[in-house]
Amino acid sequence: MPCYFENNYQRAFGTWPLKNRELADALQYAINCGYRAIDTAQMYQNETETGTCIAACGVAREDFLITTKVNPTNVEEALFLPSVEQSLKDLQLNQIDVLLLHWPAADGNIRQSIKLLNDAANEGLVKHIGVSNYTSQMMRDAQQLSDRPLVTNQVEFHPLLNQSTLLATAAETGIPLSSYCSVARGEVFKQPLIHELAKQYQKQPGQIVLRWILQLGVSVNTMSTNPTNIQNNYNVMDFTLSSVDMAKLQSLTKCNHRIVNKSIVPWAPEWD
Ligand SMILES: NC(=O)c1ccc[n+]([C@@H]2O[C@H](COP(=O)([O-])OP(=O)(O)OC[C@H]3O[C@@H](n4cnc5c(N)ncnc54)[C@H](OP(=O)(O)O)[C@@H]3O)[C@@H](O)[C@H]2O)c1
Repeated sequence: MPCYFENNYQRAFGTWPLKNRELADALQYAINCGYRAIDTAQMYQNETETGTCIAACGVAREDFLITTKVNPTNVEEALFLPSVEQSLKDLQLNQIDVLLLHWPAADGNIRQSIKLLNDAANEGLVKHIGVSNYTSQMMRDAQQLSDRPLVTNQVEFHPLLNQSTLLATAAETGIPLSSYCSVARGEVFKQPLIHELAKQYQKQPGQIVLRWILQLGVSVNTMSTNPTNIQNNYNVMDFTLSSVDMAKLQSLTKCNHRIVNKSIVPWAPEWD
């Protein structure tokens, strides 16, 4: 299953939960490192600062792949397109590169969500469309309902969580996955195996984790405010994990450590 996002765009810099100076500094540093894919969302309330940074950073707008996500509260006929227009204004863009539905509709109405997403593309407000936090059945339904290809399902994805059902559905539907919580917000670093492999490949532990995700055909979103981590998270294209080591990392998925569950996101669906 190939990543949808080619080359440089397979590594995106995530902006949640950054704001103000912290966001501006981290994002500018990430752009200087080479990141050209940026992930934000209406819910993060940082589209304006993200837009300001991109406009002022000195890199041509055409070089970026900018993803934003529609807040679930805006997924209704009267609110959807105006909310996308507001995102465009805040991000200082004429067109959003990738527009995602941030969460499945609470009432399970996938048909309406996918129609509104297609409307945004038909209006020329966005170039590509996709979803986030969709289950495998939702992916199948969405693929059937969408006139346009869905370029990603952005989901929690790291070595401590078994997402093999979603990976199989990505292959079946042609909707590639992209990761969030890619280093499980630091939890992965408690695993000795990650450190053993880092020593073996002469890489940093985070690079082993991101490489595993990429080699599964999943694009990565990472967020860091630490310049060394930002740089390391970007520098993951110059080595390959062996199939034996990929399998060793796969064995960690037995931990079944899910971060984004109903206790912190009450509107989360029943995960696969
Ligand atoms: N679609 C969704 O529902 C959804 C949900 C959550 C997140 N996201 C997106 O995905 C992005 C990333 O997810 P996330 O921030 O939740 O989780 P994450 O990337 O797993 O964790 C971020 C944390 O890990 C640390 N970290 C990052 N790289 C590291 C490295 N190489 N070594 C050591 N520590 C490292 C960072 O600390 P330092 O700052 O100290 O490096 C930060 O505290 C978000 O910014 C957002 O854009 C989307």
